[in-house]
Amino acid sequence: MSDPQGDPAAGDASPGPLKLATRVVHAGLEPDPTYRSVIPAIHQTSTFAQPSVGEFVEDYDYARSANPTRAALETALGELEGGLGTSFSSGMAATHALITAVCSAGDHVVLPADLYGGTFRLVDKVLTRFGITYTMVDQTDLDALAVAVTDATRLVWVETPTNPLLNVVDVAGVIERIGRTHPAFVAVDNTFATPVNQRPLELGADAAVHSVTKYLGGHSDTVGGAVVVRDPEVHERVRFVQNSVGAVPGPFDCFLVHRGLRTLHLRMAAHARSAEAVVEFLVGAPAVSNVRWPGFSGMVSFQHPDAIGIAERTKLFTLAESLGGVESLIEVPQAMTHASVEESDAAVPADLVRLSCGIEAPEDLVADLRAALPAA
Ligand SMILES: Cc1ncc(COP(=O)(O)O)c(C=O)c1O
Repeated sequence: MSDPQGDPAAGDASPGPLKLATRVVHAGLEPDPTYRSVIPAIHQTSTFAQPSVGEFVEDYDYARSANPTRAALETALGELEGGLGTSFSSGMAATHALITAVCSAGDHVVLPADLYGGTFRLVDKVLTRFGITYTMVDQTDLDALAVAVTDATRLVWVETPTNPLLNVVDVAGVIERIGRTHPAFVAVDNTFATPVNQRPLELGADAAVHSVTKYLGGHSDTVGGAVVVRDPEVHERVRFVQNSVGAVPGPFDCFLVHRGLRTLHLRMAAHARSAEAVVEFLVGAPAVSNVRWPGFSGMVSFQHPDAIGIAERTKLFTLAESLGGVESLIEVPQAMTHASVEESDAAVPADLVRLSCGIEAPEDLVADLRAALPAA
């Protein structure tokens, strides 16, 4: 956690002259140079006119390679995570780009024992076919992690808090522990924490990866991803994969995510307030067990024998995959987001319910859950 004690809305622990709350509002935004519009134009174009062969502005020759609306978002993402940003058409495309930019055939990857099912599926079902091997380990156990890292380990993939069990991994501890024995690249999936609560590069990690579909976009209206790295050489490799594979976000999606970023600090504070109220209710509710909340953000999970019934009865909490939008969502991971880890070491309990607490009035969210839980 970069700022565990401070007020996230104030961004008290952020580095540099400007507070985080100021940076999220301004990051990557300059008035349009032609008409001075405060919000730059959306460059909804596939290509750029060249007055003569090879003559074009900056690197804007073709929009898979570069687009000004995307560049503005990438600048903002880099500013907020403290590194060099590249954006993608989904969180999975970002994850794929980072892993393939860093790893080659024969390399070994360490994955968390519980993680987003799609990340597991990408490594287990796709990348192993290209000679990558992996080990899964509970990364809250640094001794077990040290055993899992070998001479062949090129990448340690951290997800914290984890999806859906919300385990918190000590990023600085991971780096310190493996740094003693092996110089592996450490990437952190920062989707659940966001840079408001955790800035992996400041903690010593080499990369932060996001599904911007979630909190960064924040309004459940677009799918996207991002990679932010410290090292310019790794950044070039990530951009090379971005251009070679072509999983780029469209300009309008970039605009939406960039607009969402500008209220990130306010939304994260409101999500946490909702989650806190929901947790207070769930802890005392009949037949509810294992209530989990990392103490920040809006993600809560719990177990209940009637998990599916509860998910189908709530009204304000919409039954849907995804998370991190202003509206509250509910799901049963085993049957929904995590079906791809069934039968694997990352399998999740069938009675687990995952909540994405939105920014509605907390008391309304509690009342919705109270009505959906079976009477004792
Ligand atoms: C932690 C985490 N990482 C990555 C992803 C993949 O993101 P996307 O759905 O944008 O491809 C998800 C999606 O739920 C996620 O929860």
